[in-house]
Amino acid sequence: MKTEILSDRSETELRRAAQLLAENKLVAFPTETVYGLGANALNGDAVKRIFEAKGRPQDNPLIVHLESPQKAEALAYTSELYYKLAAAFMPGPITVIIPKKDVLPEAVTAGLDSVGIRVPLYAPARELIRIASVPIAAPSANISGKPSPTKAEHVIADMDGRIEAILCGDDCKVGVESTVVKITGEDSLVICRPGGVTEEMLKAVCGNVTIDPAVLSKFDGKPVSPGMKYRHYAPEASVEILVGSEEMVERFLSDKTDFAVICYSGDKKLQKNKNVLILGDENDSQEQASKLFSCLRECDKDKSIKNIYARMPKKSGVGLAVYNRLIKAAGFKITELK
Ligand code: TXA
Ligand code: MG
Repeated sequence: MKTEILSDRSETELRRAAQLLAENKLVAFPTETVYGLGANALNGDAVKRIFEAKGRPQDNPLIVHLESPQKAEALAYTSELYYKLAAAFMPGPITVIIPKKDVLPEAVTAGLDSVGIRVPLYAPARELIRIASVPIAAPSANISGKPSPTKAEHVIADMDGRIEAILCGDDCKVGVESTVVKITGEDSLVICRPGGVTEEMLKAVCGNVTIDPAVLSKFDGKPVSPGMKYRHYAPEASVEILVGSEEMVERFLSDKTDFAVICYSGDKKLQKNKNVLILGDENDSQEQASKLFSCLRECDKDKSIKNIYARMPKKSGVGLAVYNRLIKAAGFKITELK
């Protein structure tokens, strides 16, 4: 298949992308979190093609992207808490899971009775949805199991030839996927996936905020979000997280070969290694989030790298999302250095 490469800076090309979506074709598009792989959420056949293009497991539901929070009325049962969250965080990097209505095809929700609603902050994405005039089901636009795409070039690498069009735009500022929350009561929600909207921010709006155990560690039960159970965000080399000071990591690496090290801008000694990826300032979790997936993809380009060692990030604020993506890339392999 020939994939049209379009730019969101051209009004004509943005319209072309919207037209393809309205015609039930697949179009990848930028958001503030990661690039999405979109299809008309009301068309079951279009939605099924998303799963084929990504090689995505059928039991993993998609989230639905809308131009405004009110548009959810046609698709799902909203509530007071939904609108409180919408007022505080939409448009923005959050997905809110609420009970779905029957108009949504089974393929979108993978048979669940709920649907994730998201209104992206990145303006061209909302413009695209507005012009297409349909709700857009979209997972991240990567091949299943690869790190999510945060730059147009990542999407082209994964999806060229598999979908009708790629709308290219800015690099994704947040850099990790949206915070997924499920409303579980009048004043309660569960964080199923951490992201740009943090636990602290949610606590300012909702009385009872809990974190699904699958977010923080290997979890053998059934996570609230089916997506949390897969080994995700994986580059081809194996990933291991190292807990310890820069000196401890340096000592650990001294007898290792064929590795890359992920560290922070202050880790000057570690930066003397051959393959170094700097996530950013150790105390700037947002900077780390925006660079994480690019770093993991960078490692994939060099086939001589067999192991990636990442010095443990700070877990507070958006740092929880960085930690969550790293432990999943690492298949929960964490080593405490002595
Ligand atoms: O930032 C994002 O959320 C990006 C951009 C494109 O918007 N999208 C994205 O989609 O990350 P995806 O499919 O890669 O991740 C959606 C996550 C999965 O873990 C899925 O299991 C969960 O949301 N999810 C979706 N619908 C759900 C539902 N009804 N109940 C529980 N979890 C759900
Ligand atoms: Mg994904």
